[in-house]
Amino acid sequence: MKISFSDLAIPATGAVVVFATEGGDLMPSAVALDEATGGAVARAIKASTFKGKAGQSLEILSPANVELSRIILCGIGKEAEFDVIAAQKLGGNVAVRSLATGEKDVTVLFDMDDLACDFATGATLRDYRFDKYRTTETKDDKPSLKSLAIATRQHKDAKKQFETAKKVIDGVFFTRDLVSEPANILYPESFVKEVSALEKLGVEIEVLDEKDMKKLGMGALLGVAMGSARKPYMVVMRWNGGKKKDAPVAFVGKGVTFDTGGISIKPAAGMEDMKWDMGGAGVVSGLMKALAGRKANCNVVGVIGLVENMPSSTAQRPGDVVTSMSGQTIEVINTDAEGRLVLCDALTYVQETYDPRLIVDLATLTGAIIIALGHENAGLFSNNDELATQITTAGLSVNETVWRLPLGKAYDDQIKSDIADMKNVGGRPAGSITAAQFLKRFITKDRPWAHLDIAAMAWSAKDSEVTPKGGTGYGVRLLDRFVADNYEI
Ligand code: BES
Ligand code: MN
Ligand code: ZN
Repeated sequence: MKISFSDLAIPATGAVVVFATEGGDLMPSAVALDEATGGAVARAIKASTFKGKAGQSLEILSPANVELSRIILCGIGKEAEFDVIAAQKLGGNVAVRSLATGEKDVTVLFDMDDLACDFATGATLRDYRFDKYRTTETKDDKPSLKSLAIATRQHKDAKKQFETAKKVIDGVFFTRDLVSEPANILYPESFVKEVSALEKLGVEIEVLDEKDMKKLGMGALLGVAMGSARKPYMVVMRWNGGKKKDAPVAFVGKGVTFDTGGISIKPAAGMEDMKWDMGGAGVVSGLMKALAGRKANCNVVGVIGLVENMPSSTAQRPGDVVTSMSGQTIEVINTDAEGRLVLCDALTYVQETYDPRLIVDLATLTGAIIIALGHENAGLFSNNDELATQITTAGLSVNETVWRLPLGKAYDDQIKSDIADMKNVGGRPAGSITAAQFLKRFITKDRPWAHLDIAAMAWSAKDSEVTPKGGTGYGVRLLDRFVADNYEI
């Protein structure tokens, strides 16, 4: 679906979208259209349950006195509450109402000045399909809509703003694509190939293979990879958009391309979900695409640890002790708590190599975070209140929200081991917190660090306004905003 912006005017032909507020007050363009059609819009409202609430809509086919094919009237909710997020959601709703109508071109008469770019953003975010493996779908099964023309007074400003927004959406779509790919297609080596395409945008890519990682002493990550025929990789992505000597902001992602649990194997039911256990790495990759695409004025380094967690005769065993790159030893009690083993070596590597000013890591780390927070918020853990606030605020601005959970010595004590420096699980109580405590042990010099547990957010079983079900890309817009608001010159 192509988005275009033009001046506010009722088109002569085609389909148009107009709006009403909660309570049923028509927006100015809807009033004009009602007049042009001899009151068809008002009559249709009267004959229906349409109240102008957000999410409600009404269709009038072949209205009288005009050459239009249809009018779609959408509710925007209470006008006083119509903000950036509401505009994005409205865009998503209008996209759904328009996509499958059979119409190819739809014109939106958008009276809500200032918010046209957000409307376009929501519509575009909702218009995502991962359909490359559908070979029998007919033309009628696919969305018909080709272009959404947004007619609005400040169309020049909106067009300009949307050029930047579109780069961020490209990043979100890259993440959704990666998360949606099955694990027979997307495994560490093919993942490396996918992210290497970011070089075209000016992202510097460095790839560490098994030999490199052995040399660096990444025993924790390599232990996870032992059971798989697929070779592990670590990828470093650098975007140098800031001043040469400025320390970078670092993002680190868990990239377990499939998590069977290893020898501590998971139950069969639902195991297919573990194809998206690379969600953290997916977000870091999409974020780098967004930042490079919009040429962010900031130095950023993204590191992803790519492994497959499989059971086999070469797999690591419960009880094994591995030595991480940091030198700290880990007793692997449960091979299914593998994400932290991958992340800890990536965290050490990024700190030793780039001395970043702060680190944010993302991981589909624990099932426990789904129990704690549901699918409404990612879990946020941090050793730094300012950083935690920056992330929380950015999340609210883009409606990708987080909820902070505590850290503390008593939780840290849960991962004491009898034979090594720590063990990789802390028992059932506070499972997401003990996972975060584990990661914290690899952060040096009280460096500002935040961990986002996105296990509940990377994938959605149901549609929401701006996100069709499936891979969500949650985190890309959040961290893009976090960078834009706090770390760009
Ligand atoms: N990848 C899983 C966490 C997960 C679960 C992500 C559900 C998305 C949906 C992680 O590697 C895992 O298996 N965690 C274990 C930890 C436990 C063994 C301490 C868990 O959550 O059960
Ligand atoms: Mn696991
Ligand atoms: Zn996992």
